[in-house]
Amino acid sequence: MPETKTSRKHIAVLAFPFGTHAAPLLSFVRRISEAASDVKFSFFNTAQSNALLFSNGGEFERVKFHDVESGLPDGYVFNKSHPNEPVEYFLKATPGNFERAMEIVVAETGVEFSCLISDAFIWFAAEMAEKRRVPWIPLWTSASRSLLVHLDTDNLRERLGINGPGEQTLVFFPGFSSIRAMDLPEGTISGPLDEGVPVLLHKVGQILPKAAAVASNSFEEIDLPDVNTLMKSRLPNFLNIGPFTLTSPPPPDSDKYGCLEWLEKREKLSVAYISFGSMIQLPPPELTALAEALEASKTPFLWSFRGNPKEQLPPGFLQRTSAYGKVVPWAPQLKILEHSSVGVFVTHGGWNSILESIIGGVPMICRPFFGDQKLNERTLETVWGIGLGVEGRKFTKDGAIKALEVILCSEQGKIMREKIAVLKQLAFQAVESEGSSTANFKTVMEVITKT
Ligand SMILES: *[C@@H]1O[C@H](CO)[C@@H](O)[C@H](O)[C@H]1NC(C)=O
Repeated sequence: MPETKTSRKHIAVLAFPFGTHAAPLLSFVRRISEAASDVKFSFFNTAQSNALLFSNGGEFERVKFHDVESGLPDGYVFNKSHPNEPVEYFLKATPGNFERAMEIVVAETGVEFSCLISDAFIWFAAEMAEKRRVPWIPLWTSASRSLLVHLDTDNLRERLGINGPGEQTLVFFPGFSSIRAMDLPEGTISGPLDEGVPVLLHKVGQILPKAAAVASNSFEEIDLPDVNTLMKSRLPNFLNIGPFTLTSPPPPDSDKYGCLEWLEKREKLSVAYISFGSMIQLPPPELTALAEALEASKTPFLWSFRGNPKEQLPPGFLQRTSAYGKVVPWAPQLKILEHSSVGVFVTHGGWNSILESIIGGVPMICRPFFGDQKLNERTLETVWGIGLGVEGRKFTKDGAIKALEVILCSEQGKIMREKIAVLKQLAFQAVESEGSSTANFKTVMEVITKT
């Protein structure tokens, strides 16, 4: 029997293989595959990032993983002093590395791609889709507010000047009156404007309006109507379809370090859960300051720690705090944030972490590092009222004690908890059958299936 046209739908998926980018993209693809059983996917990503997705159980039917070249020179050794080097090498290898891998797949299967889905960072997929006369659907994996900044970079440069005063605020931008120049991602209006990632983000802002639809891992109701209106004026096909944590199957249950059992024995809303994501390590003086703050305030804590805690934490700290503290190399973050014992999340302010904290209803203390994290921190504190930044964006012992006290013991902390409970409810409503994210996902599916 000849294959029908629909059974030949074949989507190329182009990943950005750094940070926590590839996992939400795969989650998006899996959801599409569940909604349209006749679609096949070819997932293009570096071997290293593909391997990580596999080891986290990312494999499923109808998606085939293909490796693209990483662009790294032979024998390349990662150097902590140059964390962005692999990104720069990868960007230099694009788009040729993707083009070559895609040509091989088309030659082998005899089926052309009917649609391109990519991380929004892979801006050149716009041209690849245009050449093939198929739709392009990029996925933005962070908050809408940071995307607005990239869409309006030229405007911001003109209004605020390049390397102008950091304290000036974006009063002219609806919904951004409390945001300062210094809160914007580095390379937007200050810092290294001509490096790989800032140039990439500028391009993303210029090219996204060409997309058939732009999907995003967020939900409309988190933003004020003026931000959503501004967004629609810049990107009419912008579609919040998240939070993905609520729309994808839960990760396999794994609590090999007994975090949940430990939380069971704690008082309600008493514990500080600490994690700075899978990539960031606090600088040594800040590690010491945070540890000293926990010890001085006797705050119960659960710390998901990158590195070697025995070597990096103050001598004797683990022993002295063993009655009320637990340090583990890995933790089931969402489950922890949903546990009633957890009262505060100490975080770097990455978007996935913020969404999980909202789903858990836990206010945050944020110590941002790079990218959108400063903007997220400022937004948590001044727009949503669901968290605090640390003074000077660096942990000091006194600053950390003060922040823990505000969230765990004060009226202000209680108000934050109430506000985040409202956002939590809105997030759950958005993914219900009549919710905004569900409706937006249907629109994405229409774009995919009408081609
Ligand atoms: C890492 O980079 C720093 C700074 O450029 C340099 O001094 C150091 O030698 C490099 N380390 C290695 C192992 O190449």
